[in-house]
Amino acid sequence: MERVALSEKLEFSRLIYGMWRLADGEASSPKEVEAKIQACLDQGITTFDQADIYGEYIAESIMGAALKSNPALAKQMEIITKCNIVVDAGRHSGTRVKHYDTSRDHILSSVDWSLKEMGVDHIHLLLIHRPDPFMDHHVTGAALDELVTSGKIGSVGVSNFRPWDWDLLQSTMKNRLVTNQIEISLKEITPFANGDLAFHQRQGHRLMAWSPLGGGDLMTGSSALTTIMDQLAVTYRVDRASIAVAFLLAHPAKILPVLGTNNLKRIEAISDTLKVKLDRQDWFQLYQAALGHEVA
Ligand SMILES: NC(=O)c1ccc[n+]([C@@H]2O[C@H](COP(=O)([O-])OP(=O)(O)OC[C@H]3O[C@@H](n4cnc5c(N)ncnc54)[C@H](OP(=O)(O)O)[C@@H]3O)[C@@H](O)[C@H]2O)c1
Repeated sequence: MERVALSEKLEFSRLIYGMWRLADGEASSPKEVEAKIQACLDQGITTFDQADIYGEYIAESIMGAALKSNPALAKQMEIITKCNIVVDAGRHSGTRVKHYDTSRDHILSSVDWSLKEMGVDHIHLLLIHRPDPFMDHHVTGAALDELVTSGKIGSVGVSNFRPWDWDLLQSTMKNRLVTNQIEISLKEITPFANGDLAFHQRQGHRLMAWSPLGGGDLMTGSSALTTIMDQLAVTYRVDRASIAVAFLLAHPAKILPVLGTNNLKRIEAISDTLKVKLDRQDWFQLYQAALGHEVA
């Protein structure tokens, strides 16, 4: 598996396994989660994406139970987690209004919570989950720098930020933001043309793409787009999901897809997507089908 340097001190696997859905369904016992993590590690997928809010604030503890049952796993993993979304659930039950919290107290207590729930003493990368329209960038930037200095987190990034949100937060920080995790897929092609990719490409940042299968929507139904995906799947002898991910992998921005299947059989085959090398015309065939018309 290709390794990717996000900074001088941070290296991830090219494919990342996302744990948003870990609390869904029934396969969430420590042994079952251990098997999912091991299936990723067996393919060289060492980077795992969490958030305090996943599973209404319980996905981190579900992963933590697996790490406790097999302590050798954590040593082989890089862990990403996120904070700042507050909803009326779990440890935030009683919250009156869904909101974002980028205050120092909230960020510091969220990280302590995540460390405890996952049973680890270090988070490789902390992301601010959503841009906060009420953010005091001086306060947030200082809190994030403080966490790096403390050693509780290794690096800082953001998620769902537009270029101006990135610039605002970065302007107050000593540490460099290392990535932006945004929605990019054949279902959400906007970032290819709205300046988001261009902004990060120009600065040499590596982006992460969440929901590369459109959260599963690209796997169901039939449309002009899925017809082309299926034709390419036949050409490259893979499944439709691999074509969706290959579309991201082919782009010169060197995007890191964050895959979310919660099904062990599918997890075991995730790296099949790396067999596919789409060429420029394959890419445009998919892009235009997603766009709904030929490029001008
Ligand atoms: N930063 C953010 O704001 C944000 C937002 C959303 C997600 N994320 C991250 O991105 C990760 C991935 O998101 P996602 O789960 O929506 O990603 P995804 O990979 O686009 O979608 C996964 C979903 O597709 C379904 N699916 C149907 N057919 C499939 C097939 N052939 N192969 C694989 N999956 C198939 C899966 O079902 P099965 O489980 O049954 O396979 C699962 O429900 C999350 O876990 C999270 O880490 C971040």
